[in-house]
Amino acid sequence: MKELQPFKMSKRFENVKLISAAAAKTPHDLIPLSFGFPAKEAYDVSLMAKCSSKAIEEGGYKSFEYGGATGPSRIVKWLKKRSEIRGIYAPEENILVTTGSGQAMDILARGLTNEGDEVWVEAPTFFGALRNFTLAGLKCRGFEIDENGLKVDLVEEALVAAKNNGLPMPKFIYIMPNFHNPGGVTLSLERRMKLAKLALAYNFFIIEDDAYTELNFSERVLPAVYQFAPQRVIYMSTFSKTIAPAIRMGWLVAPPEIIMQLRSLKADGSTSVLMQEIVAAYLETIDFDDHVGNISKLYKSRLDAMIKAIDDYLGDEVTYTAPEGGFFLWLTFKEEVATSLFEELALEKGVSFILGEHCYAENEEKNHIRLCFSYCDEEMCKEAIKRIAEAYYEKYPVKKLV
Ligand SMILES: Cc1ncc(COP(=O)(O)O)c(C=O)c1O
Repeated sequence: MKELQPFKMSKRFENVKLISAAAAKTPHDLIPLSFGFPAKEAYDVSLMAKCSSKAIEEGGYKSFEYGGATGPSRIVKWLKKRSEIRGIYAPEENILVTTGSGQAMDILARGLTNEGDEVWVEAPTFFGALRNFTLAGLKCRGFEIDENGLKVDLVEEALVAAKNNGLPMPKFIYIMPNFHNPGGVTLSLERRMKLAKLALAYNFFIIEDDAYTELNFSERVLPAVYQFAPQRVIYMSTFSKTIAPAIRMGWLVAPPEIIMQLRSLKADGSTSVLMQEIVAAYLETIDFDDHVGNISKLYKSRLDAMIKAIDDYLGDEVTYTAPEGGFFLWLTFKEEVATSLFEELALEKGVSFILGEHCYAENEEKNHIRLCFSYCDEEMCKEAIKRIAEAYYEKYPVKKLV
């Protein structure tokens, strides 16, 4: 047989980077603050096993078939009801179950735009969203966030300037209003209302990615942006953070004509029917409020341990906004610091984090890191911060460790 010729892969996606779990190096004693994973204590393995058997026994052969146009309705009914606590009153036909919210992002990016269109994102933003938008051939423009989320005034100024000067208008703005990834911040009520008004006035969509909303450590529950402009907001969320990422189940809420368009882009032969039935059985068995309440308590205590260690080991070298929920803390070093300079050293010391620079569509800021506090226990979080501080002080010898 002739020797195999080398095969040239697509050049179209050469600039798309793999970040986090997909690219994670895992030395033996690594403390992975880079993983956006739930805690292993958050999984009820034996209950999930029981619900799997129950779903298969109850569903019979139906659980093994293709889903058809709309898929099973039990989970959609549950989602419809749950959405109401956020002020989202949408009929079942407005809800589409997706294979993770990553898929929702993918089909939205392709369904709402043409290649080369401009979309606006927060700066920083979720690197997975940037990846999806880049794969769809979109141009991403970033807008600063502060402790109250996206600076909507800057968005308004840019919209006015774009309109007056014939510049590209965004097809959509992608935001994470609650417990932002990576920023940890929450969009204020005033800014939610204003952004919704702008979407209606300038005719763009808001993609409201609410992945972490159930993991709330505070008393504050803000209405979804969706509530203020259901015609121009597409709401999306996921069970990855509250049940398990491996079930690959998310959903979106959108006007029915958009759902129709997105169905034709969802080329996976439907999100696993079997998994939808298992998740429905699980949700009907547990008290979901208790479940998310318990895991939120666990995550809050890990966050508190991490914050104490940051204050002890890094003190005035860094700033952060303590998140009111979610998985992530965004640590900002002084402007002249490049966190990439101590990333490798930190890995050698056995701790990983996400470099902040991966979270920008443009004008990357170099002095941040994203820390995930959900996956590692309190002692590990504390030890990880100590190692990061050691790596930092070795490269920036400003102060001795206490
Ligand atoms: C803000 C945000 N949206 C979406 C996702 C993707 O979630 P899924 O596992 O549902 O694809 C993540 C995962 O990290 C996330 O942080």
